Amino acid sequence: MKNMILAANWKLNKSPEQTRAFFATFLEILKNNASAYSQLGKQYQVAFFPSATSLEATSTSLRGTPVQFGVQNIYHESQGAFTGENSARVVKELGGHYILIGHSERRQYFHETNSSLNKKVHHALQEQLAPMYCIGETLEEREKGQTEKVLLTQITEGLKDVNPLLAGSLVIAYEPVWAIGTGKVATPDQVKETHAFVQTALVKLGFTSTPILYGGSAKASNAGELIQIPHVSGFLVGGASLEPQSFLDLIQASLS
Ligand code: 13P
Repeated sequence: MKNMILAANWKLNKSPEQTRAFFATFLEILKNNASAYSQLGKQYQVAFFPSATSLEATSTSLRGTPVQFGVQNIYHESQGAFTGENSARVVKELGGHYILIGHSERRQYFHETNSSLNKKVHHALQEQLAPMYCIGETLEEREKGQTEKVLLTQITEGLKDVNPLLAGSLVIAYEPVWAIGTGKVATPDQVKETHAFVQTALVKLGFTSTPILYGGSAKASNAGELIQIPHVSGFLVGGASLEPQSFLDLIQASLS
């Protein structure tokens, strides 16, 4: 079995109370699965990205467990007069490990650019947190044959001046925008071809062992097949991570 990261992006869902209820059920079922629980944190990682207001409830619920978490976005400075932003330093203080950077919803609705995301990647690394940098093409870009060009630009600009030797914690999440929340998962051939391309691009920049996750309508019924594909190191999951059992089913399918 390969080393995997199975990550849940809850987007703008779940109050602190719903977060605590989720983890009570999730951890109980997971601990009862002795084989999956014993491999967790060693053979594979599980990470949650709650909304910022449920971060503390997540931190408290997961304390003392091997399950990791992080925020969905940060500002590129850790404190100051930046109303409404999230601080990487606070994430760290709460015991978080990851920072999601450049999700397509941030790019689309909040106009984040490769260069602003590059600052966040640098800042996360400076704060000794693991950036999970998201890339992905829109349907229009794919249909125009621009997928590789778009991904390459997102990679080179987003990772500009990042020293691969100091970025061992970096993770890439490839999420084709047209597959997010649509139920339209990329085909195994599309995933194979695109992950191979992303891997080659990363190696050329010196990122030789950066995990590449797939995201976009990932669920238990397709995870088993997709995880077999070379250079797929796990999943970034939206909808299928909102119920404990459906996310646990995806974890189980990826492990077997
Ligand atoms: P879905 O799994 O709901 O398609 O969302 C994917 C995603 O955006 C995860 O970041």
